Amino acid sequence: MALNALGRHLALVGFMGAGKSHLAAELSRRLARPVVDVDAEIENRYREPIPRIFEERGEEGFRRVEARVVGEAAALRRPSIIDLGGGAVTCEESRGALADAFTLLVDVDADTAWRRCAGSDRPLAQDEAAFRRRYDERLPLYRQVADAAVRSGDADGAVLAAAGIHHELGALERLGELVPGDGPVALVSDTTVLGIHGPRAQEALGERLVSTHELPSGEAAKQAHVLERLWSELTLDRTATVVALGGGALTDVAGFAAATYLRGVPWVTVPTTLVGQVDAAIGGKTAIDIAAGKNLVGAFHWPARVVIDEALLATLPDRERRQGLAELIKTRLLAGSDVDVRGAAAYKAALCLRDPHDRDVRRHLNLGHTFAHALEAGAGFELAHGDAVALGLLAALRLSGRDTTPVVDALDPQPVRVDRDRAWAALQRDKKRERGEIQLVLLGPDGPVVEARDADTVRAELERLIV
Ligand SMILES: NC(=O)c1ccc[n+]([C@@H]2O[C@H](COP(=O)([O-])OP(=O)(O)OC[C@H]3O[C@@H](n4cnc5c(N)ncnc54)[C@H](O)[C@@H]3O)[C@@H](O)[C@H]2O)c1
Ligand SMILES: [Zn+2]
Repeated sequence: MALNALGRHLALVGFMGAGKSHLAAELSRRLARPVVDVDAEIENRYREPIPRIFEERGEEGFRRVEARVVGEAAALRRPSIIDLGGGAVTCEESRGALADAFTLLVDVDADTAWRRCAGSDRPLAQDEAAFRRRYDERLPLYRQVADAAVRSGDADGAVLAAAGIHHELGALERLGELVPGDGPVALVSDTTVLGIHGPRAQEALGERLVSTHELPSGEAAKQAHVLERLWSELTLDRTATVVALGGGALTDVAGFAAATYLRGVPWVTVPTTLVGQVDAAIGGKTAIDIAAGKNLVGAFHWPARVVIDEALLATLPDRERRQGLAELIKTRLLAGSDVDVRGAAAYKAALCLRDPHDRDVRRHLNLGHTFAHALEAGAGFELAHGDAVALGLLAALRLSGRDTTPVVDALDPQPVRVDRDRAWAALQRDKKRERGEIQLVLLGPDGPVVEARDADTVRAELERLIV
């Protein structure tokens, strides 16, 4: 079983009429992967429509042809989306070929499936009673082979599943089942969160829980001495999983501990802040701070699972919620739609699956952040990140020639008193200047773009954010 589709094929299974082709096209766009449509590939190769191949070779003959095409698709080096015909998984050879793929079941109820297929030329959708019988036979098989399931048409759900993200209200209560495997678990959390949600997490982990580790709350956790203490406290072998319960600071340091302890053990993040749920817990970046700067030492370590339970946000102070709201508004601008927490998580997950090591499109997530980092430096890091991002988004929108209303209405950013020269110096260090120009993530007509603006224009926009 695969935990996610990172670097591997994403195979779509499900009954006819589940909308696999439609979903495959949408996932192709979001994950920038090619689609192998197995049925279309067979028709191409045999220059005959599927009903004819069925007639001539019978179902068994067809499955053999299909298995060959599935095998070839599975052997492609580039991670792809493999859109399988409804019956492909009944064939052992096809199942074997997909053993390394991440298999996603696209779920549909029998009535909907029949409504969509009745009257088509599909050979197995000619008789309703036979169609329904087949549906009942196949369902258990689909469930058995699938690594995860989504409802028909749920593209966000498919991306989340592909990234190993589980979004469910009340998921904390089921944490024991949601941590992959059945090995021991070490729970890492911070003082505040442990006090509020710790007992329920511990209870949900049940007998798998072997130790609980309490770290300081907030940024104070992201320090080498805290990490070293955690390393020393852990008594795990490599069958164990680290579960990180907390905000972005906690998951950053716990994730780095998991990335390095015994040269890497699996970890599960359970983000408890809005920042964590839409941003920090997703994509596998982990880090601690050192004197020379924030997040300078870390590792990429993709979590075995991310468990997003929005019920955990009920206890979050407003000040912390506001931090996350800035990232949520940022994601809405990038996505060009009013995404909620689930949609924002799916948006980030798609970019991270495309670019796990942050060399390319993942940088779109830095919309507004060049200015934000400059203001933070100018404030001697006394400015909250979300407040800095809110201001940075204003500047990014103005430089993109866009209306600033969405940011003003949601975040009401007010210019801040910071050291102008330090802010400007930091901005220039942050974005290396090429021929007097500065590279920025901006919004083009079709979404985010990386574009150069001349230094004077950028400086003028930075000045507008400062009183
Ligand atoms: N790895 C990444 O990709 C990534 C992305 C964005 C941010 N980050 C990091 O995330 C950190 C910021 O994370 P954050 O904004 O979540 O803050 P945080 O982790 O510092 O938490 C803020 C405060 O809220 C408390 N808290 C957390 N959950 C709570 C809850 N449910 N109820 C009550 N109190 C709760 C914490 O104890 C803490 O005091 C920064 O260190 C940043 O560098 C990492
Ligand atoms: Zn940010």
